[in-house]
Amino acid sequence: MKMQGKVLFVFLLQSLFLAKVSPEPSSEEDSSSEMHHEEQRKSGSHGHWKYDDQDKWSLDFKNCSGKSQSPINIDTRAAIFTPALPPIVLQGYDLSDEEKLTLQNNGHTLQLSLPDTMRIVRGFDSVFVAAQLHFHWGTVKVPGSEHTVDGLHFPAEIHVVHYNSKYDNLSEAASKPDGLAVLGAFIEIGPQENANYDNVLSSLTDVSIEESDTEIPGFNVRFLLPPNLDHFYRYNGSLTTPPCFQTVNWTIFNETVKVSRKQLSELEDTLKAGHDSVLSKNFRAPQLLYGRRVLSSFEALGSPGGVSSGGTEDTSSGKSSKRGARLGSGEDSSEKDLTDKGEEDAKFALGLGEILAIVFGVLFIVTLLSFIMYMVQQRKKNSRLRKDTRQNVIYTPTPKEGV
Ligand SMILES: *[C@@H]1O[C@H](CO)[C@@H](O)[C@H](O)[C@H]1NC(C)=O
Ligand SMILES: *[C@@H]1O[C@H](CO)[C@@H](O)[C@H](O)[C@H]1NC(C)=O
Ligand SMILES: *[C@@H]1O[C@H](CO)[C@@H](O)[C@H](O)[C@H]1NC(C)=O
Ligand SMILES: *[C@@H]1O[C@H](CO)[C@@H](O)[C@H](O)[C@H]1NC(C)=O
Ligand SMILES: *[C@@H]1O[C@H](CO)[C@@H](O)[C@H](O)[C@H]1NC(C)=O
Ligand SMILES: [Zn+2]
Repeated sequence: MKMQGKVLFVFLLQSLFLAKVSPEPSSEEDSSSEMHHEEQRKSGSHGHWKYDDQDKWSLDFKNCSGKSQSPINIDTRAAIFTPALPPIVLQGYDLSDEEKLTLQNNGHTLQLSLPDTMRIVRGFDSVFVAAQLHFHWGTVKVPGSEHTVDGLHFPAEIHVVHYNSKYDNLSEAASKPDGLAVLGAFIEIGPQENANYDNVLSSLTDVSIEESDTEIPGFNVRFLLPPNLDHFYRYNGSLTTPPCFQTVNWTIFNETVKVSRKQLSELEDTLKAGHDSVLSKNFRAPQLLYGRRVLSSFEALGSPGGVSSGGTEDTSSGKSSKRGARLGSGEDSSEKDLTDKGEEDAKFALGLGEILAIVFGVLFIVTLLSFIMYMVQQRKKNSRLRKDTRQNVIYTPTPKEGV
């Protein structure tokens, strides 16, 4: 009977703890960038948006509050292993240095224009033509990838934007349901310089001013992506910047790209947005899944059962906003100013939190009553039947598990 009491006590504590913790809105932060200014002008009433304002993007750009938004958190255990996903095959990525590419600081990102000779020739239902690539990053303290994996950000992320070859150009394709395919990879800090990234980073100082651009010689763009392209996640999503069109067939590679700390710092510190503010933290917060499924082309090592049942955990999608983490960033220092963007997320979290609080509150009361009844009963028995050995058969309340 002492045992019973202990179990109950622990259970009650747990209920209180959960009820208290869960309502905290764990929303995340900023945002990202996919499209050019053309699209913004085209669709939005105002062309202006900022990462600080991302919870208000949908006022000017309705699609930003849609139900297939990007980025998302990738829950590796919920990803559905899909052997039938065809591998990605790239063509024309190895550019001659005769070819000149335009590198631009457009105020939201560092963007490199790509020639239409670069293509994804296999992996989708049609050929996709490359248009541009760009980056999302944070600061030395705040890892700035857009997608997260099991709730964690990486230091930075590269996006290579392609449009369906059945359309004439990027802006034409951007609003079509089958218009875009973006290849995304996480950038981590490794022990060595990544010479491939110097093709881009060495010209950063030439575009430090917003809206400036420069020409750089072509190089093998394939090497900006991870060595292994066979392992990837796939889901239906959107541009991660206004106008947030839900037209992107996303591929996120499981293998990461590594650059040195120094190289990452160049990206984080060199570009300016506006007069004297540094262009950084240009990432959008993870968005809710709303039932979308995330496929994976590979079977996770050590995951029991391999084919996991995806889809059920919609609520976890954008919520797990631990920052910090992977390689070299850490600190929660930024967490404060990051919360309460992403209004939608916060609202959702509060709703869920309240429900949980009520559920646990009711459980608490029921359990408490049972406990009191039990104690009262116990007293009576003890006083009346002191010597009776039938003590074992008394009523024992069993708390339900897994609520
Ligand atoms: C994305 O590509 C896959 C593979 O070709 C295809 O099955 C899927 O329908 C595409 N998604 C969209 C939204 O077109
Ligand atoms: C893109 O294609 C459309 C339709 O063919 C055309 O009207 C438009 O001018 C093109 N835009 C650019 C930037 O080339
Ligand atoms: C993406 O959307 C396409 C077209 O609606 C659909 O056929 C496909 O199954 C979706 N992909 C995933 C991973 O849900
Ligand atoms: C934008 O949102 C509207 C309204 O929800 C929808 O009808 C339209 O298909 C969306 N367009 C794109 C390109 O996502
Ligand atoms: C790659 O996949 C493994 C196995 O699921 C997972 O543990 C890891 O977090 C993934 N990393 C990325 C960057 O997707
Ligand atoms: Zn992007």
